[in-house]
Amino acid sequence: MSEKVVIVTGGAAGIGRATARRFAAAGFRVAVWDVQAGGEGSEGYIQTVDVTNAAAVEEAVAVVVARWGRVDVLVNNAGILRDHQLIKWKDDRKLAEMTEKDFDAVVAVNQKGVFLCTRAVVPAMIAGGGGVVLNASSVVGLYGNFGQTNYAATKAAVVNMTKTWARELGRYNIRVNAVAPGFIATEMVTAMPEKVLQGMVAHTPLGRMGKPEDIAEAYFWLASDAAGFITGTVLSVDGGLVVGT
Ligand code: NAI
Repeated sequence: MSEKVVIVTGGAAGIGRATARRFAAAGFRVAVWDVQAGGEGSEGYIQTVDVTNAAAVEEAVAVVVARWGRVDVLVNNAGILRDHQLIKWKDDRKLAEMTEKDFDAVVAVNQKGVFLCTRAVVPAMIAGGGGVVLNASSVVGLYGNFGQTNYAATKAAVVNMTKTWARELGRYNIRVNAVAPGFIATEMVTAMPEKVLQGMVAHTPLGRMGKPEDIAEAYFWLASDAAGFITGTVLSVDGGLVVGT
């Protein structure tokens, strides 16, 4: 039914995989970009793309445009965690710290990757008369989190890139929004300590972790014409986790 084209970064696993499936189910042509195997692009279309590599990203956009002629939606979903306390202190001495390497790695994927992919895709959207950019923020981008200096910083940065691009790109009929997922049961999250997970559920009014499909539905709706007057916003999809914070 739809001839529209969506690119989903980090689409081989978790939320990205569910998002690629959701768009495919609605007839979109889906390009999955990831550094690992997996996922289901249209006509088996999966590109090995590291979102931190500007040249690879530019080339990947050119391949999608050559194949399908347009890009309607970009879902900047790829993201990583490298959690450590800023300083771990015990018995009057420093036991550990967040390394520069871990800080830079998370900034490269979660923040710079969003910038590189969006910059590469926007010209095709303008040429096609418009588009939708959707960015993965997080509840922790709104209220910070213990052990997540790097991750929380990037997820806040995503919010402000979203707002900036909404201002810059509205004139081209390009809408830009972010989604702030709460705790969603993917590999990224279920690898966290059981105590932390239980704490999150305890603070979630709906009393459960989210499913990748909960986020996929939000992305899909924000990309649709039903959300045609929505830009520059951050939609919390978190079972109520951030209420009152
Ligand atoms: P995940 O770890 O299950 O999947 C992330 C995907 O991104 C993987 O397939 C991975 O290979 C890919 N990826 C990593 N580095 C990449 C790179 N340099 N280039 C291209 N692809 C790369 O993660 P999950 O849980 O599905 O999260 C997806 C997004 O949602 C992330 O941005 C995450 O920060 C965000 N998010 C997730 C939450 C959760 O509870 N799962 C909560 C809030 C935000």
